[in-house]
Amino acid sequence: MSSLWSGRFDAAPDAQAFQFGASFRIDRRLFEDDVAGSIAWTRAIAKAGVLSADEARRIEQALDAMLARGRANPDFVSGDDEDVHSFVERLLVDELGDAGRRLHTGRSRNEQVSLDLRLYLRRRIPLLQRAIAAVVEALAAQAASAGRALMPAFTHFRPAQPVLVAHFFLSHAAPLRRDFARFDAARAEADALPLGSGAIAGTAYAIDVDMLARDLGFSRIVDNSIDASSDRDFAATFLYACALTMVHLSRLAEDLVILCGDEHRFFELSDALSTGSSMMPQKKNPDPLELVRGKSGRVIGHLLGLLTTIKGLPTGYNKDLQEDKEAVFGAEDTMAGSLAVVRSVVDGLTLDRERTAAAASGLLLATDVADYLVGRGVPFRRAHEIVGALVRKLVADRRDFGSLSLAEWRDASDRFDPDVVDRVTPGASVAAKRTPQSTAPAAVDARLAEVRRWLDDLGKLC
Ligand code: ARG
Repeated sequence: MSSLWSGRFDAAPDAQAFQFGASFRIDRRLFEDDVAGSIAWTRAIAKAGVLSADEARRIEQALDAMLARGRANPDFVSGDDEDVHSFVERLLVDELGDAGRRLHTGRSRNEQVSLDLRLYLRRRIPLLQRAIAAVVEALAAQAASAGRALMPAFTHFRPAQPVLVAHFFLSHAAPLRRDFARFDAARAEADALPLGSGAIAGTAYAIDVDMLARDLGFSRIVDNSIDASSDRDFAATFLYACALTMVHLSRLAEDLVILCGDEHRFFELSDALSTGSSMMPQKKNPDPLELVRGKSGRVIGHLLGLLTTIKGLPTGYNKDLQEDKEAVFGAEDTMAGSLAVVRSVVDGLTLDRERTAAAASGLLLATDVADYLVGRGVPFRRAHEIVGALVRKLVADRRDFGSLSLAEWRDASDRFDPDVVDRVTPGASVAAKRTPQSTAPAAVDARLAEVRRWLDDLGKLC
């Protein structure tokens, strides 16, 4: 296999070193983007007078046909070539001879690889966003079907206060919506045309970069050719968005592993998404959730790997940058798989309302008791002390607020009246909340409606 740079050397490349440096196995995924970029480049150099109209037409036709072949048969995109750029050029030269040899005029693989990755992310990010929205949709559906069901919310993983189960599900939708927006930002960052940068200094041909940008759908052109040759910030931004989404999926997975477990049994996992044990017949294991939690480490690793790769690079393109694609594709694949499985798991959850309601009752109403006293004019710090002492007594006697007689309430404070019994229930606790982000049923309904509008609007955009 002759390389793109064989003219410079006496000896053929060392086979092992060539293999070590080759990236075609990985970057073949950029085939579509490489061809799209080459078609636009053909038009740009034709306009600059490098190609005759006839040559440009023949190159474009050959590239179109190549794209159709590659789409119809992915195996076609393979060979001993160094990378996808060399592959496309080799086929073109095989077919067109000298016309094909003119395509690379004024262009460098340094800008080409940046272009391809930008085009790739631009077309792939919306697919990941759709998968994120599908998880949000599954969470919203669970929130809707939970209705007014109650459960405890936890702090320090101790039962803290009663909340609506719907509020819990929406608490996992909120970070995923931020992730969705973060991917918009990642896509916007990739949206800059690097062509015209040449290898490092720009290009000496009269390339109409504005036309190229329009042709390829970019909204702007990079600022500086030196920066453009080594800028992978857009890839790092993408990886950060992936890593944080995986962190959110991992936390959701962790909540479900625990809350579906025997100690809580708030939800039941569908059998189809659980696994059994080879030895212990009673086991129903949440393997898919554990794997999502586990794989989040891998995606965080991809982000850290790329940052480490780029942190010490001297100015301009360096081959180290080739490592970017394994990170980007690996993160993308892991995230797509994780989103799909989390969506199915959430879809398949069954709520046990009795268990969640029982767990939402008891001493975790202590804050509501203190709030009751505040309503009767007791300063909060004082109310906290009174209720703390009452809780201490109840814990010692293994009782809870529901079992207190009026005399016992009054013993704790003469501000307690018989209505305390109705005011200190999980339902009253959530109903008493006032802020829009709270678990008050009306507030949760409003948030759920807003999530649904967001999903509807996305549906219209797709
Ligand atoms: N495969 C290379 C990469 O992914 C393409 C750019 C090669 N440029 C070069 N000067 N060797 O970075």
